[in-house]
Amino acid sequence: MSKRQKPETEHDMSNLIDNLKRVDDVKYNRRAFIKSMTGATVALGLATLPFQIAGAKKKADQEARVKIAELSSLPKGASTTFSYPTEGDTAILVHTVEGELVAYNNKCTHLQCPVFYEKERDILVCPCHRGFFDIKTGHPVEGPPQRELPLIELEVQDGKVYAVGRKYRHE
Ligand code: FES
Repeated sequence: MSKRQKPETEHDMSNLIDNLKRVDDVKYNRRAFIKSMTGATVALGLATLPFQIAGAKKKADQEARVKIAELSSLPKGASTTFSYPTEGDTAILVHTVEGELVAYNNKCTHLQCPVFYEKERDILVCPCHRGFFDIKTGHPVEGPPQRELPLIELEVQDGKVYAVGRKYRHE
């Protein structure tokens, strides 16, 4: 009899088919599993891409260092506007009456009107709907705004004021 024997009974044939199916099942299931895992990995990577970009952007925001002003041109009680970290992100730098330097993005967190520094009350004011923000923290203290202004982190070096990062504190 040759090596490749023909099954002799119907029962042997049935066993052979069962075995073939099992071998194929394992082989094809493994392939399907690997394919689906590859697909899932790619899909997950694509789905999280916006967050990866946002994370990278956030890091870039924190690392950007932009000169805002000469300290000598900003006496106590004065303020100046600038943009940070992009041209569209308008901001305000204030040398407070008490002598502190603080900066925030200056779009009101209510409906985006620009906020101004009011020296007499040492406070940030949004004229649109009479919103007020604490000068030391940027938190809303009066009027419709509910969220604080994004904080611009500052450094002073050789008489120059630099923006070095931005913090959102209400996420
Ligand atoms: S936009 Fe500032 S209070 Fe409404």
